[in-house]
Amino acid sequence: MEINTHRFENVIPALIATFEFMKRCGLRGVQCSEKTLQILESWNFETIPVKTISLDDIRADLGNCQRCKLWKKRTHLVFGEGNPTARLVFVGEGPGYEEDQKGKPFVGAAGKLLTKIIAAMGLDRQDVYICNIIKCRPPKNRNPEPDEINACLPFLKRQLAAIQPEYICTLGSVATKVVLQTDEPVSRLRGKFFKYKKINVMPTYHPAFLLYNPERKRDVWEDIQKLMKAMEK
Ligand code: URA
Repeated sequence: MEINTHRFENVIPALIATFEFMKRCGLRGVQCSEKTLQILESWNFETIPVKTISLDDIRADLGNCQRCKLWKKRTHLVFGEGNPTARLVFVGEGPGYEEDQKGKPFVGAAGKLLTKIIAAMGLDRQDVYICNIIKCRPPKNRNPEPDEINACLPFLKRQLAAIQPEYICTLGSVATKVVLQTDEPVSRLRGKFFKYKKINVMPTYHPAFLLYNPERKRDVWEDIQKLMKAMEK
């Protein structure tokens, strides 16, 4: 059977939302034939361009998210902000105190440094998109735990699928590990390009790390310059 692409693109988000809803209701599976299962397994949902999903749709799907324990102590969920068709997306770790208070990413001390880095690139925060691996602040800013990352990651993936950026800059070890699915330390990966699907990924140090290790600012500036050069093409 030939599938109409437009209808197909609309069906996928609906299917994902339905399965997520069923999972939240406690259902552990659906009946389907072996043949259907084989077809479903052959589809790679993440690589199908689902441009018809908007960031607003994804935010709406998150709703008053309670998919992991972090909702209990959050003030605001920090979804991300910026240009919905940005060429460059910055991915950090997770909201800190200021971000939790304001519901916006990178607005505290580390955020001010990130804003300066973006300005040094000749860009404005509104030119890029800024988001995090997890959307709710962990208590005392501890590192996100695997169950928290796993609950949140599908939404970051969907944000990236909606934005379709050409470049991602991962900030710090958590973002780099999660986006590139690696255990290599960021100190080894920074300054080189990697791929997340078809997107070019430049890992660099987290701005919060720079606040305590200002001698590393030079490294970050080198990484950012490589990124700028690649983006000129
Ligand atoms: N650190 C992060 O990783 N993300 C933010 O949004 C703020 C601080």
